[in-house]
Amino acid sequence: MHRVTVVIALLGGLSLCAAAPSQNITSDVYFYGNSPPVYPSPEGTGTGAWATAYEKAKELVAQLTDEEKLNLTAGTSTTTGCSGVIAAIPRVNFTGLCVSDAGNGLRGTDHVNSWASGIHVGASWNKTLAHERAQYMGQEFHRKGVNLLLGPVVGPLGRVAEGGRNWEGFSNDPYLTGALVYETVRGVQGSGVGVSTKHYIGNEQETNRNPETVDGVDVASVSSNIDDKTIHELYLWPFQDAVRAGSVAIMCSYERINNSYACQNSKTLNGLLKTELGFQGYVITDWGAQHGGIASANAGLDMVMPDSTLWGANLTTAIANGSMEASRLDDMVTRILATWYQLNQDTDFPTPGIGMPSSVDSEHQAVIGTSPDEKGALLQSAVEGHVLVKNTNGALPLQSPSLVSVFGYDAKGPEALSFVASFGTYSPAIQNSTLYVGGGSGSNSPSYLSTPLDALQQQAYEDSTAVVWDVSSQDPDVDPTSEACLVFINSYATEGFDRPGLVDDWSDTLVTNVAGKCNNTIVVIHNAGIRLVYDWIDHANVTAVILAHLPGQDTGHALVNLLYGRANPSGRLPYTIAKQASDYGSVLHPSEPQTPYGLFPQSDYAEGVYIDYRAFDQQNITPQFEFGFGLSYTTFNYSELDVRQTNGSTSQYPPSATIQEGGNPRLWDEIVKVTATVQNSGSVDGDEVAQLYVGIPNGPVRQLRGFEKVHIPVGQTAQVSFSLVRRDLSTWSVDAQQWLLQLGTYQVYVGRSSRDLPLTGQFSL
Ligand code: NOJ
Repeated sequence: MHRVTVVIALLGGLSLCAAAPSQNITSDVYFYGNSPPVYPSPEGTGTGAWATAYEKAKELVAQLTDEEKLNLTAGTSTTTGCSGVIAAIPRVNFTGLCVSDAGNGLRGTDHVNSWASGIHVGASWNKTLAHERAQYMGQEFHRKGVNLLLGPVVGPLGRVAEGGRNWEGFSNDPYLTGALVYETVRGVQGSGVGVSTKHYIGNEQETNRNPETVDGVDVASVSSNIDDKTIHELYLWPFQDAVRAGSVAIMCSYERINNSYACQNSKTLNGLLKTELGFQGYVITDWGAQHGGIASANAGLDMVMPDSTLWGANLTTAIANGSMEASRLDDMVTRILATWYQLNQDTDFPTPGIGMPSSVDSEHQAVIGTSPDEKGALLQSAVEGHVLVKNTNGALPLQSPSLVSVFGYDAKGPEALSFVASFGTYSPAIQNSTLYVGGGSGSNSPSYLSTPLDALQQQAYEDSTAVVWDVSSQDPDVDPTSEACLVFINSYATEGFDRPGLVDDWSDTLVTNVAGKCNNTIVVIHNAGIRLVYDWIDHANVTAVILAHLPGQDTGHALVNLLYGRANPSGRLPYTIAKQASDYGSVLHPSEPQTPYGLFPQSDYAEGVYIDYRAFDQQNITPQFEFGFGLSYTTFNYSELDVRQTNGSTSQYPPSATIQEGGNPRLWDEIVKVTATVQNSGSVDGDEVAQLYVGIPNGPVRQLRGFEKVHIPVGQTAQVSFSLVRRDLSTWSVDAQQWLLQLGTYQVYVGRSSRDLPLTGQFSL
């Protein structure tokens, strides 16, 4: 078997590149088949920055009894509020681990902040800000004694337009997601807290994510059937960036991948993750995602949460009877302990779980997770994920209107703001008030909530103007002297369910009712995913529209800064808004079980890499608002495109190198550099997101391969520069099992969005 050969070669110290014979494997073999097996599970090598941590871990492992080793590989029951706990081993001064949700802020406790959600960070297109947010969030987890943050999310990537958890991740584009997850991993881990980038892999729908019993019959999880090329070019891409950034853990998902459960899929764990990407950390299950004993251990799983009935003493039996190598158990434990050293948690960490009471309503010590120095990043993260998509008749920014009218329940706060209620898993409670975070484990706990209505009242107080509201009626009366009517609607999503649709009648009727009575109707949508606007977007009285996403606890404050021009909108859509739902084609809805596969639901990723803008471009479908689109209060001009080849080798195959975290390091050799000049040609200072798209021969029309967010004062120019590295310009070859540069002409586009690209150029390889 070709792939087995590769693994053995690697263990022998050879590089993947050197061991890559060509073999005729077509992508079809993955459909309805199994992933090719990859055994044995590669041991962590302690490569690069991991060397010292591995040395220390190995020393510690040598002192452990079998029982102590087993205890490190599975969670145990806890009296803390941690999502999961690994027990301490006081005998060797190992203090244990507290692991907790999630990627948008710490969930289910007090004295922490509700940060902007993943989709909001995606819409900000701001790498520096993503890093800062992550760093501060990490510090909160650290103060609360949480060793491992259960996030960030890059799976789902966002294949299914109605996907229930797309809002937890950044974007359905792998490049944008990859760049932002890289910064997020570095930011959190720079604070001494680990991340478990999740959910690996193919967790693209909530429908049938877990096995269930239907009418007394066992139905398996849905199988995400993904061919080798698509998995590399789309779904694995951001995980590769996370691993390259040093993600100390990867959480395997609930789904089956090509018909094997994700937490016991040797191809994805041993093969892609631990061999091809050189992952040095540990694989942790999603909660309850383990479905096999030694099968999962041999496939590369390292830690089970929240506990395991399948491992424990069974593993020692398996080692004794030869069905599992003792070295596999040692490797699991080495990987887990190495991360503890890698993050300096052996010397610089509070008592695990110290700030995580089992219930915030019972007696507990106050552990303050927040810090005043986070304020700037908290607010700026909330500001930058707002995307202005329509602005006519000079509607925005508002010019001291004497009377503003406010409509829609999304403007107001909830009846109660308790840490329990606000993260309420699967609870629709926050649907009927302003939506600042989605539901489920990715939800978070705010320190306070600045609602849009509160912030507008504060504005009226400061301006000595008036604000009136009716936040319950669907057909409210409108004071005819209103200078602006703000209509707030939202679109909820939560873990556990895919969304019922991309519009809702109640909200759309509210907008058209108000627009029928007010000729300056400004619509704000807090959307946990794609939200369509076809019902009223062309209404002459709808003068401005903001996709406000999920800003976290500073939501109102951030919005009012934008509405009144104290901040200039700089968000861009991290997905495509279609004119009609059917334009998303086969990936509009999640896959449902069908006969003859009813007991083993299947989801065929037959569209390949053609999701979102790649599909709209391929099929020539005009979107309502394209990927990358967003307005500003100023305008930007583009000029002086320069495309030049740098010194990187242009051999079609990547040069050989020892695999490091993230894979072959030569995939990051710069091959082409692109620069352009952007001028602020309007009348206020603003931030532009300059975007670079590349048309790779034999690939999609164009794909995002660079972006830079730059602040440009009025009249001034900025030079933006994009480094195109080997991976950016390659496509995955199933035959060669390599990223290969394509021989031919590459198209280069630079501009404001995926469809507004004033600068074009090309180069040939
Ligand atoms: C299940 C969710 O899928 C996962 O994202 C989360 O981290 C765990 N539960 C723990 O709460």
